[in-house]
Amino acid sequence: MTQKVLVLPGDGIGKEIVAEAVKVINVLKADHGLDLELTYGDIGGAAYDADGHPYPPATQKLAKEADAILLGAVGGYQYDDLPRDVRPERGLLGIRADLELFSNLRPAILMEELADASSLKAEVVAGLDIMIVRELTGGIYFGEPRGIRVLNEGTDKEEKQGYNTLVYKESEIERIAHSAFKIAMKRDKRLCSVGKANVLEVMELWAEVVERVGKEYPEVELSHMYVDNAAMQLVKEPKQFDVMVTGNMFGDILSDAAAMLTGSIGMLPSASLDKNGKGMYEPIHGSAPDIAGKNIANPLATITSVSMMLKYSLGKSELADKIDAAVKSVIQQGMRTADIYVEGVAGTTLVSTSEIGDAVVVALQN
Ligand code: IPM
Ligand code: MG
Repeated sequence: MTQKVLVLPGDGIGKEIVAEAVKVINVLKADHGLDLELTYGDIGGAAYDADGHPYPPATQKLAKEADAILLGAVGGYQYDDLPRDVRPERGLLGIRADLELFSNLRPAILMEELADASSLKAEVVAGLDIMIVRELTGGIYFGEPRGIRVLNEGTDKEEKQGYNTLVYKESEIERIAHSAFKIAMKRDKRLCSVGKANVLEVMELWAEVVERVGKEYPEVELSHMYVDNAAMQLVKEPKQFDVMVTGNMFGDILSDAAAMLTGSIGMLPSASLDKNGKGMYEPIHGSAPDIAGKNIANPLATITSVSMMLKYSLGKSELADKIDAAVKSVIQQGMRTADIYVEGVAGTTLVSTSEIGDAVVVALQN
């Protein structure tokens, strides 16, 4: 049966990097029997420009019909002054919430050839393989009440106050904990739950529920860490971690830090899954408007997002392995986009977005 993938290039470098990923998909269709139909939609600033909304009804409909979604990135300086509810980021949060993509998997794996590109010493990051499981549809990103209000209006003490609410229900913590434990079972069976139970009641409940769910996974060694310490440990001794599970905002922050351990945020893919394994796949980096349209962005995180899509939503692990091998071979050949290029490293060449994409295509054809 033909599977349907919705492609949402979005803004900034989104279009360029997604174009490279589509080349890869097309090779798999032509040469490896992948039966996939691609449809295209708008999201983020591109959708606002076209329809006045960052997640318009037409995209919603396509998203519901698709078996999986491939997304580039959203956001751009030109949208910074728009009302908050039509900003590009709202489109991304909208589709995550609409499809209940609560389980966000962000693997941070260091390819040994890129150890020089990491800001940490090679021996600290060599062999790094962490999976961050970030809760994606709850927490402070979505909690109510939220807003900016005026206090003491009309008095000499008048001032504005911004507020957001960090909330988690037991059912939300349970389902993300199950996701994380299941992933840990397939890996090194170590799970670290990251919170801030020393200060926040909601994270006290988080730790308690994760602990309870853990009883169903006796083989997994569960530990708890406060988020400030986790940030420190990630840059001090990152290899101590196997799987980390955390809330929406802590996961946003820690996954950027973890990405840099691997040399570049341009290398890390992600999967955002619902309870049935339907998912949206996107590089964890943003739309990088400063380098958009220059053909210098790194498309490898988007290409390996396709690999995650084949594995997690489309049941095609063999093809996912082929993509991963092709990406590895391109890195081994010494090809480097600007973000992973380190001057003076023997055997490496600085290449463009489309050159590295073409090289992945060639590697897949061999
Ligand atoms: C991410 C991004 C998004 C987030 C932004 C673009 C809304 O930083 O996917 O990590 O904060 O979740
Ligand atoms: Mg982020």
